[in-house]
Amino acid sequence: MADEPGQPPALTTLSLADQAPSSQAVEQIITPFDVSGGVDESGKLLPVDYDKLVREFGAHRISKELLERFERVTGHRPHRFMRRGIVFSHRELNLILDRYEKGQPFYLYTGRGPSSDSMHVGHTIPFEFTKWLQDVFQCPLVIMLTDDEKFMHSQKIEIDDAKRYAKANAMDIIAVGFDMKKTFIFSDFDFIGGAFYENMCRMAKRITINSVRGTFGFNDSNNVGEFHFCATQSASAFATSFPHIFGTDKKKVASIPCLIPCAIDQDPYFRQCREHAEKMKFKKPALIHSIFLPALQGPGSKMSASVDTSAIFMSDAASRIKNKINKYAFSGGQDTAELQRQHGGNTKADVPFQYLTFFLEDDDELERIRVAYEKGEMLTGEIKQRCIAELQEYVKGFQERRAQVTVEILDEYMSQRPLEWTGNPNPIKVDKEKK
Ligand code: TYM
Repeated sequence: MADEPGQPPALTTLSLADQAPSSQAVEQIITPFDVSGGVDESGKLLPVDYDKLVREFGAHRISKELLERFERVTGHRPHRFMRRGIVFSHRELNLILDRYEKGQPFYLYTGRGPSSDSMHVGHTIPFEFTKWLQDVFQCPLVIMLTDDEKFMHSQKIEIDDAKRYAKANAMDIIAVGFDMKKTFIFSDFDFIGGAFYENMCRMAKRITINSVRGTFGFNDSNNVGEFHFCATQSASAFATSFPHIFGTDKKKVASIPCLIPCAIDQDPYFRQCREHAEKMKFKKPALIHSIFLPALQGPGSKMSASVDTSAIFMSDAASRIKNKINKYAFSGGQDTAELQRQHGGNTKADVPFQYLTFFLEDDDELERIRVAYEKGEMLTGEIKQRCIAELQEYVKGFQERRAQVTVEILDEYMSQRPLEWTGNPNPIKVDKEKK
């Protein structure tokens, strides 16, 4: 790839003037509820500007040096998402590496807001990456299913729907391949109480209406449940919320931080959480952010579970994947084969090429495709075929594993039980005093 490690693949402006609602420039909006790259003065939909986002959020790009350190400390070549700048930004990943190096405990925390029966391929990005991190770090993982969030945020979703989606999504998540001994999956409606609820209340007491309004763009019409939810999502970032995993020695457990893999839309929740964690005598959560798998229509928005034609779902049949990509995937190629041969295609705007950067493992092959497409040696139809084949393969593997996930297996992942993990098998020695 031409892009540097830690640099998200540059995505260019799309010529979608006809799809833009007005000719007035609109700023990009990225919150957990809204992802839009904005619109320029001429009415063009813009791709998400990740540089700007990192600056505004006050996060840090993952530098080449940090990637090298990751490899040195863990002994693993960085995941293709890290090599290609898909996982591109972080908060205090270095501190998690310090702890891994010394054999000190930490855990992974991620989640899903169950809003539909099936997850789409975009949702699997953080889960695929989290599975890989769990294999690398050999550490415990908690996965939060925010069925309460979806109930409060949607006019259509009732509690029973949200709970049903949570179970179906948990089965999808299990099919990603998490190690059962190290993984606890929970639904908010089923799990919250006890130590978790205490931490929620500690957090809620510190979050002001003002700060929630500013962070999430809420106004007086949002319901109080939405205002309060930030405390719920934050409470999973504190190890004392999970006594069945970490024990009941509150002082000791409070010093165990977590690392949160997510796409960058979830960062606002954890900015709030990080702001107050130390005052609550907890460790701040560390984060590692990915960019969004773009919607089929292009990089100005992310795939949406409520817009069928924007997304490839993990339940889609091979023929449906083929049709969706052929029909809806935005092309950076020229209008005719002749023009494509003459001028080549724009891989930075081309959705099939962007999907290949997420799913094709082989760096050399990806680079060959990029060069051939940009030179016009590869035609639009050909790159679509390559993308279709790759996604069909990815979804088929997933569906085969998903078919093996029984209700008994689901119940085991979701049962409150001690987990088993080893952490770093060869930590460096540190003075007990310093530890
Ligand atoms: P949700 O269900 O919106 O998204 C689940 C996870 O998928 C990420 N994501 C994407 N990643 C790449 N490309 C996309 N197009 C895309 N769309 C969504 C999200 O960033 C998220 O990581 N409130 C949360 C649930 C949650 C959570 C967490 C998520 C609770 N605790 C901790 C991450 C970390 C939600 O509704 O996620």
